[in-house]
This record gives sequence, structure tokens and C-alpha cells, in this order.
Amino acid sequence: MFVVLLIFVVTLLYVLYRRTFEYWKRKNVPGPKPTFLVGHIGESFLGKKPLGDCFFDIYKEYEDYPFVGVYKAVTPCLLVRDPEFLKCIYVKNFKSFMDNEMFVDKNVDPVMGRNPFFTKDHVWKKTRALLTPNFTSGKMKSMFTLLDNVSEKAVIYVNNQIDAGENCLEAKTLCMKITLENLASCAFGLDANCFNDPNSDFQDIANKFFREKTHFLKIFLTMVIPSLMKVLPIRIISEEVAERLRKIVFETVDYREKNNVQRPDFLQSMMQVRDSTKDFDSEDMMAHVAAFFGVFGYETSSIVMSFLLYEIAKHPEVQDKLRQEINDAMDKNGGNLTYDNIMEMEYLDACLNESQRKNPFIGALFKLCTEKFSYKPTKTSEFKDIEVTVDVGTVMVIPVKGLFLDPKYFDEPHKFNPERFLKENLKDDRSQGVFRPCGDGPRVCIGQKFGMLQIKSGVAHIIRAFSISVNPKTKEPLQFDPWHVTLSPKKGLWLNFQKIE
Ligand code: HEM
Repeated sequence: MFVVLLIFVVTLLYVLYRRTFEYWKRKNVPGPKPTFLVGHIGESFLGKKPLGDCFFDIYKEYEDYPFVGVYKAVTPCLLVRDPEFLKCIYVKNFKSFMDNEMFVDKNVDPVMGRNPFFTKDHVWKKTRALLTPNFTSGKMKSMFTLLDNVSEKAVIYVNNQIDAGENCLEAKTLCMKITLENLASCAFGLDANCFNDPNSDFQDIANKFFREKTHFLKIFLTMVIPSLMKVLPIRIISEEVAERLRKIVFETVDYREKNNVQRPDFLQSMMQVRDSTKDFDSEDMMAHVAAFFGVFGYETSSIVMSFLLYEIAKHPEVQDKLRQEINDAMDKNGGNLTYDNIMEMEYLDACLNESQRKNPFIGALFKLCTEKFSYKPTKTSEFKDIEVTVDVGTVMVIPVKGLFLDPKYFDEPHKFNPERFLKENLKDDRSQGVFRPCGDGPRVCIGQKFGMLQIKSGVAHIIRAFSISVNPKTKEPLQFDPWHVTLSPKKGLWLNFQKIE
């Protein structure tokens, strides 16, 4: 009896293996041999690599191929290497790839379930259309003073730390204080008090959101097997955090309405959307304000900003040149920073681009095929002449890290060289086609202008006021926490700050 059962189980596993892991073979799509159950992300399950990094070696190995068939655990995914194909996904054939793979049910998680990143199809379209007008350059310009005030407070904070004998600070912790203050100011019109009180309400909410181990496990699981979100009541944002954010939003709205307060911030814009739009109630307004600034607004920007400071600290010649640009611009304005100043700083922009290229905050993006699509490289293409028809429901992997560190597009890709992003050196369109740190097309990051502005404002003030260098407490070469979906150095980025008199 036992032998029969064993033969049955082994046969079943074999059939399942063939059915699942021969998907790309049946379609004649090349790719490395997958491992049973874990596919190509075994190292991520073992905690050896962040999920997105598992596709980095495959990207390099299949140098001549426009696409590669891979498996995210048991899910067949198409890893896209050819920039022309990427353009189809992002822009030209957007209808065929309009959804992200991750999904959150708004009945389970009312905050994240309403966010454009986690919504699909017509719900995404409608939400995106309502939110886009809140992120225009005009809105950013009107909010710039709020960001500038926070950057000035950051300089005072670092000065106070130095006066108290502490000149070594962890960059991510510092940047998170800045971005939390920014979001509190721009989203809620409040002072987050992060510089004075390490246990402030906002800091505590952020710590609860991003420092809980179970949180990373949940995000990891939902990235590996997104269909879990459809069957299990998994929330991205805990009930406690959601409740605290909701309380902050409703109390602030109540205060503004009673006292007739108007402020050039996101809450004000969202209150206007609520008052002028059918099917958009106070819950929607609360969810968008809370999600944008409770998650997207500060975490992404603080990672990117901390790596920019780290690279500037490591490269004194870059630091000098950047400080010169900042001083020239601010001195013309009596020592002040304006929105137009920031926009004109070409070297600061180049440094930010280069830091994002060298240290992409996420290793890969995952999108869904929503309409059948066939692709074949053009006759003049440098890639192999093979074709594929992508079926609805197929997951597309955009190998961000592979593209950004590909020597074909970027000479000496591991070198920090901001000059490559200066206008005069940007004639090579090849690199421009692949460098998309905020995505592209209709689903491009909605908050990118805000993100870039808060990073640039913070960095400009810091570099004008302090000379920075890397403290040996930073463990180099950097190692990254494999359980984080986003780039997270294991022991932190420790920097020395010295006042410039
Ligand atoms: C340095 C800062 C940031 C980076 C590098 C970044 C990067 C990205 C990337 C790569 C995507 C995916 C794009 C795609 O699917 O093609 C994205 C989407 C998104 N980002 Fe950002 N982001 C940043 C800041 C922000 C900020 C400040 C906000 C909000 C205020 C924000 C809100 C969003 C939202 C809502 C989406 C989903 C858009 C959609 O699917 O329609 N991001 N971001």
C-alpha cells in the first residue's frame, strides 16, 4: 500500500513539475533550468538575496536575448531585456500591460487597497485621473516653501547634534526624519516633531510600519505569491497604523473646517476633490492622504536621499563641485533656496540620477499582461531573432538593477560618475531608453516630482552647511538585507558631518 501511495505522490509531483516548469520550454522561450517549487528565487527564500536581485545574474547571463523565461517560485514570468520591448510595456502597448502584479483588497486594507499602485483596470484609471492634478509642477511650486522650511530645520538639527559632540549620523535615519517632517507638513499641515522627539507620534507610526519583522514577511510573501492576497485577509498596513493615520487626517480636516483654515498642501487638494467629486467620500480622501504620505511619500525618498548623501560623502571631488553649484545659486538669492533655483541645478540633478542608477531602490518591477501581445526584435536589433506571444495573466519582470548596471548602456557601471548625466554627455540615447527610475508611461510614479524635490531641497541645504565623509562604522562593501523589498544596507550608512564656517 505504502509503495503505491509513494508512486502516486512521486508521479503527481512529476506531472506538476512538468506542467509548471516547462511552460517556457513549450513556448520555445530560452531560460535557465528552474528548481522545483522555488523556481529561480531559491536564494531569496533562503535569505541570501533580495527578491529583485535573484534576476540580476540571469539578466547578465542571457546577454544576447531580448527576453528570458524565468520562474518566480511556481509562477512563470517573462524577464524583458530588450529596451524596445520595455517601451512597448511602459508606453506603446500600455493597454496590454496596464496592471501591476500586486493587488490589495480595499475591503481588507482600506488604505492601501485604494492606492493606485495596488488597484487595477478601470479602478486604477479613475483613481489616477483624480489624483494626477494634485502632483503638477504648479502644486509642487506652491509647496516648495514647506519643504524648504523642513530642510532648514534639518540643518539646525545636525548643528545641534555636532554641538552635543555627535558628528556621526546614520544617513537613512536622518533622511527619514526629513521626509517624515515633509510629509507631515505637506499632507497634514502638521509639525511631525521628529527632530526634537525620537518618540514623536509620526516617528512611532513610521517605526511600526517599516520596522516590524512580520511586515517584511507579509510583503515578501505577497510579492512571491500575489494570489495569496485574494484568498487570505492580508493587510499591508496594520489596523493600528491605519487607525492612527485616519485619526490624524479626520482631526485635521475637522480643525480646518471649523476654523476655515486654507493651506497649500495635499490635504487641502484632497478635500477639494472630495467636495467636487461624486463617488469620492471622506474615506477615499483619508485613504489617499494616509497611503501617499504614510508609505510612498517618505520611505522611497528617504532611501534614495540617503544613498545620494553616501555617494557624495564618498566622492569629495563631486561634493566640492556640487557645493559650488548650490552656493552660486543660493548666494544669488541672498542665501535662500527657491523652486526655480532647484530646477536649474544641473549637477545636483546629475548626481541624483547617477546615485539612483548605481543604487536602484528596487531590483525589479513586476507587471501583468492584460491583453495578448506578440513581440519580435526588429531586423536591425542587436538581440537574437526570436519571438514570443505573451498570454493574458503572464507576469512581466522589468529587471531594473540589470538594466541600470549593464555596461552596454553605462560605461564602468559600478563607478559613481554624475558627469554621464550632464546634458552634453547625454547624446547616447541607448542609456536614456533604459534609465527609468520612476517607471514610465501612464503608470509612471505619480509622486516623482514631489520625491525629487524633497530630496534635492534636503541635500542642497545639507551640502551647503556641512562637509560630509563616510564613517568607518559603515560596513563596506555594502551588504543588503534580503528580506527588504527595497534597498536596505544591513548596518546602515554612517556619515561624519563637519560644519562649514
Ligand atoms: C525617489 C522617490 C521615488 C521613486 C524612486 C519612486 C519610484 C516609483 C516606481 C519605480 C514606481 C512604479 C512605476 C511603474 O509601475 O511603472 C512608482 C509608482 C508609484 N509611486 Fe513612486 N517613487 C518615488 C516617490 C514617490 C512619492 C513621493 C510618492 C507619493 C507622494 C509616490 C507614489 C507612487 C504611486 C502612488 C505609484 C503607483 C502609480 C500607479 O501605478 O499609477 N512615489 N514609484
